[in-house]
Amino acid sequence: MKKIIVAIDGYSGCGKSTTAKLVAEKLNYVYIDSGAMYRAVTLFFLRHEVPLDSTEAVKKALSLIDIRFEYNPYTHKSETYLNGESIEEEIRMMAVSDRVSEVSKIHEVREAMVALQQKLGTQKGIVMDGRDICTHVFPHAELKIFMEADIYIRAERRQAELLAKGEDVPISDIIHNLQKRDHIDTSRAESPLRKAEDAIELDSSNITIEEQTAYVIELAQKIIQHLNLSKVLNDKTPVC
Ligand code: DC
Repeated sequence: MKKIIVAIDGYSGCGKSTTAKLVAEKLNYVYIDSGAMYRAVTLFFLRHEVPLDSTEAVKKALSLIDIRFEYNPYTHKSETYLNGESIEEEIRMMAVSDRVSEVSKIHEVREAMVALQQKLGTQKGIVMDGRDICTHVFPHAELKIFMEADIYIRAERRQAELLAKGEDVPISDIIHNLQKRDHIDTSRAESPLRKAEDAIELDSSNITIEEQTAYVIELAQKIIQHLNLSKVLNDKTPVC
């Protein structure tokens, strides 16, 4: 059975991760949260007070970082590990969100993370979400989705997520953080967030998670079916 890569890009808080996770589950694929990788690097840089303007210090720090994803059988979720420590909760906190776009602008950081992401995708059968997955990491992905949503809706969703984790953040702070990150993510010099020409647009402002997930799954299943049908036809040896 041929497998594909599903690449999902879009703004923060559009429901990319939730959609990607559910799509991966349904297809029995591996979900990879590329944003978590940039968040893990940011957490390491914050903890070790790495000066972002020193290429030498950044390179040294990157050489000390090992990022992995492991499935937690108790929570039934994949968790991000930084040098053997689960940091899944900590990387979602505002302290990391506030700095992650600055860190992910750095050339050496992007180079290291993109190499890791491409390595994770060599066997296909993955769903990866981020900012440059369709445009840069997997420009030949079989299915590319670009997600967007109204900023107030995005902020409300992010606020609810943070509250569920015990962090009560005013909506104005969240809007400010999202706007700042959108600006940095779309205007940075290296692989800025933009819609790939062949990506399918998905506005999640007024649809449910179930609807957006069902839409992506249907698209993916059609592509997988088509690929496997072509494979069967190509594999058939001519009768005469
Ligand atoms: O998806 P997220 O909000 O967890 O991502 C956190 C930050 O990481 C985001 O503001 C920009 C950066 N990022 C990136 O530059 N490239 C990616 N492929 C994924 C995330």
